Amino acid sequence: DWTPTSFVETTVAELKDKIGDEKVVLGLSGGVDSTVAAVLLDKAIGKNLYCIFVNNGLLRKNEFESVLDQYKHMGLNVKGVDASEKFLDKLKGIEDPELKRKAIGNAFIEVFDDEAHLIEDVTWLAQGTIYPDVIESVSATGGPSATIKSHHNVGGLPDFMKLKVVEPLRTIFKDEVRRVGRSLGIDDELLGRHPFPGPGLGIRILGDITAEKVKMLQEVDHIFLEGLKRWKLYDSVWQAGAMLLPVQSVGVMGDERTYEKAVVLRAVSSTDGMTADWVDLPYKFLQETSNKIINGVKGVNRVVYDISSKPPATIEWE
Ligand code: XMP
Repeated sequence: DWTPTSFVETTVAELKDKIGDEKVVLGLSGGVDSTVAAVLLDKAIGKNLYCIFVNNGLLRKNEFESVLDQYKHMGLNVKGVDASEKFLDKLKGIEDPELKRKAIGNAFIEVFDDEAHLIEDVTWLAQGTIYPDVIESVSATGGPSATIKSHHNVGGLPDFMKLKVVEPLRTIFKDEVRRVGRSLGIDDELLGRHPFPGPGLGIRILGDITAEKVKMLQEVDHIFLEGLKRWKLYDSVWQAGAMLLPVQSVGVMGDERTYEKAVVLRAVSSTDGMTADWVDLPYKFLQETSNKIINGVKGVNRVVYDISSKPPATIEWE
């Protein structure tokens, strides 16, 4: 019978056996899968697991610092690498969504490869691949591993991709990953986090990306997500976030006419992201959130709520 405890026991034993005294590098994303994979490996091989958590500058507000802190508290051997400037630099002037994904994917590979080179004699690359990623080999989702796939053929493999691959979660599903995580003592808050795309806020800022726009969207997103948690709506939503539109609209403030940005709030219910319905959030909540955003985030004077389901409207706007 499958139980989280027995899965942990067998997997840790197998990992010890397979890896022995060798070193493993793993990219943490802040998501459930990579975290659970890391904790399993940590249990098996301890300090021979080298985790790398990259700040691509497109994470949620305070996310890099707070998640890095959490990882350290969990006792993981983790290095935080703030590469925000590099990513922003590579994204400069790019408006096309697929080109943004490429630029972000390539920057990630460069940063990760540089970091992996700093670990002497590393021979393994660990990934948080879960069973659905394995069967759905060509997938738009799935974080770092999916990103890597689409860049396979850009002039030779980066060195870290020549490492032996270990994927401790490749036989189990998301709900099982959460149960394993819980039995490993990982915080419920971390295990219950909404999915977040690898390219992050980069595909929620329509049009070109600047540091100023990232900052603005981080504030909007933070107000929305904080509100969902406070209103106890967060756990009933599959994924939520905000988009910054490349349009301005007219507003009034006192006697002044303003001409500022419009943002979109989106919250969906789903089981796997393939289809999704917009969530009927309480009007009072939307009202409060809209007021907080318009009063609190400079440069935004209009908030709209996305009432489109998937298909045809994808969860992300890009
Ligand atoms: P869409 O927008 O296609 O999104 O309805 C479905 C799910 O996939 C996530 N998503 C991505 N995840 N890299 C990722 O790691 C990407 O490029 C990407 N694009 C979309 C999206 O957040 C949702 O959970």
